[in-house]
Amino acid sequence: MTKQNLVSGMRSTGKLHLGHYKGVIENWVKLQEEYNCFYFVADWHALTTKFDKTETLREDKLNVVTDWLACGIDPEKATIYIQSEIPEIAQLHILLSMVTPNNWVERDPTLKDMIKMIKSGEDNNVQMSYGLLGYPVLMSADIMTFNAQVVPVGVDQLAHLEITRDIARRFNNIYNVELFNEPLPKLTQVPLLKGVDGQKMGKSFHNDIKISDDEETTAKKVMQAITDRSRLRKTDLGHPDKCEVVFDYYKVFADEQTVSCVCEECQKGERGCADCKRQLAKIINEAFAPIREKRIYYAENPKLVKEILANGRDKARPVAQSVLQQVNDAVRISL
Ligand code: TRP
Repeated sequence: MTKQNLVSGMRSTGKLHLGHYKGVIENWVKLQEEYNCFYFVADWHALTTKFDKTETLREDKLNVVTDWLACGIDPEKATIYIQSEIPEIAQLHILLSMVTPNNWVERDPTLKDMIKMIKSGEDNNVQMSYGLLGYPVLMSADIMTFNAQVVPVGVDQLAHLEITRDIARRFNNIYNVELFNEPLPKLTQVPLLKGVDGQKMGKSFHNDIKISDDEETTAKKVMQAITDRSRLRKTDLGHPDKCEVVFDYYKVFADEQTVSCVCEECQKGERGCADCKRQLAKIINEAFAPIREKRIYYAENPKLVKEILANGRDKARPVAQSVLQQVNDAVRISL
């Protein structure tokens, strides 16, 4: 049986953190064995909110891809590219925008959240743009340009994907074709990793540990992590279940035996939080050592990364062109 097409993207946010690794990339690495995977950096999507902050856009894109390669996304198995290098996505976006009723995008709860966040302050410069309103339509174009059957996303993206399915169905109906699949989401079953301060992990909150951080930086950040706040001395009995960050990280990065040992010692007051964090930093550093080594290699060879991206684009475009040909025929844009 031929493999199904799978599309997934990440906005070009720059260097990725451990949450990206556990929540997304680790899963992508597995999926490249089972599916015909198309992984891309959504740089146009980045512009929907950061159109006036493009100073670091180029390096951000390269950093994202460098992290992917270091983590084991394999250009021999998956097709890796930059969204803006596939003009067919923009072409399809135009056509999809014609068949998408305004109220479909206006009621998209994820988009509403983005708009709310923008309006709530933080960034007064960002206004609601035509481009941002089209966010889910552009995302649909990303997926439908490769006529994907499967899209791995987090729960926050489900609303967008619902619109994609609606658009695909509507396109097929209007033009009386069976061209587009209605792509299914593939949810990642991993607990969300919090930032070291216990809030949502994110670059803008300065609470993230990067995949590319060195050992010292990682240790420093882990030492800042919050633990069970009611515990002041080592001999106080601890509550691992209330230790939101550190114990959660143990559960994600340490083996079972270590987790149960940490849990027991903490509950008995036999393990201090500082020692506990020191050990956690060591575990994280050991887990990421091979990835970080590979990352340094790619970071020192940006030409190689660009070459991989050029090859990915050249592999992706014929697929995109073939879909666009069918689309243009269906709409009767082609003569
Ligand atoms: N909106 C996604 C996010 O913020 C990124 C994205 C853009 C995407 N286009 C996509 C994900 C297509 C999957 C498929 O995470």
